[in-house]
Amino acid sequence: MDIQSQLQSLEKQLADALQNIESLQDLDTQRVNFLGRKGHLAQIMSRLPELSPEERPLFGQAANAIKTSLTQMLDERKIFMENAKEASLLASFDPSIPGRAPWNGSLHPITKAMEEVCSVFQNMGYEIVVGPEVDTDFHCFEALNMPPEHPARDMQDTLYIQDKVVLRTHTSTMQIRTMLERKPPVAIIAPGKVYRRDSDVTHTPMFHQIEGLLVDKNVTMTDLRGTLTAFLRAVFGSNTKVRFRPSFFPFTEPSVEVDMSCTQCGGKGHHKDGSPCRICKTTGWLEILGSGMVDPAVFESVGYDPKEISGFAFGLGVERIAMLKYGINDLRMNFENDARYLAQFAGA
Ligand code: PHE
Repeated sequence: MDIQSQLQSLEKQLADALQNIESLQDLDTQRVNFLGRKGHLAQIMSRLPELSPEERPLFGQAANAIKTSLTQMLDERKIFMENAKEASLLASFDPSIPGRAPWNGSLHPITKAMEEVCSVFQNMGYEIVVGPEVDTDFHCFEALNMPPEHPARDMQDTLYIQDKVVLRTHTSTMQIRTMLERKPPVAIIAPGKVYRRDSDVTHTPMFHQIEGLLVDKNVTMTDLRGTLTAFLRAVFGSNTKVRFRPSFFPFTEPSVEVDMSCTQCGGKGHHKDGSPCRICKTTGWLEILGSGMVDPAVFESVGYDPKEISGFAFGLGVERIAMLKYGINDLRMNFENDARYLAQFAGA
């Protein structure tokens, strides 16, 4: 075939070759076949010396035009194939597949229990107060009728920061702080962290308490009983039975320990199948609060006149409330920050 017709046949040849390609790789092979250094076009050009010097420029122009046209054919095909690849990817993508739900945080069970207890008392008209975890010996002990060297101090193993400065062992400090600031009547609830020098399976050196204090004219033990019974029934259900046992606290007189019917066995001391209840150790009762009528000595230490007013105070452990309410059986779970444990309280 003469060189002219060979050149003119290249477009048709490429068009035929493109009929059979299946991949971008095939396309690349054809690009090399036609336009490569040893490709069809290059081979035709190598025959240039066969032409007379006058024919050569014209042939050169024609060859360039063919090269442009071949390049364009290859490029167009490439774009077409790339689009098809994308379209097939899109076709295999299912936009209706549900997304992955983000991880939601949840409140800690201690926080939840604390908020619930506080809200019950807020609904009864109590105001929330908070104060420092590092406090003075005066607020923590002395003003609460526990003079220095008094054996009553042995009830609480204290962590001292320095002489007369302690990590508060109870939230009763807030009784003193509030009464020093205000005149009666007072109705407060004080949630917060407290610290004691013990640590075992049932005690952590830091735990949470909620203190309550009501001071007014003619507050009696009846008010204490009614208020705490209403509170426990609000948190643990209206069938909860409550009993009051004589006890001792230096800052209340008389003092009572408040028990409620066991949340696990309903106060029976055993389960339906007759097996013994371990939560209440078969007694049917759970110790839940310390309480009492505010000791006159406490009123005197904050400048209140015990002949004019009276009041009651109580203190409860939040961990205990949370564990009973949510059926947690190991106190330490609360402090391990295991997200699998915490996530269980997301909707509780
Ligand atoms: N502060 C006491 C304790 O931590 C609890 C309590 C508070 C008792 C108020 C009576 C009145 O053990």
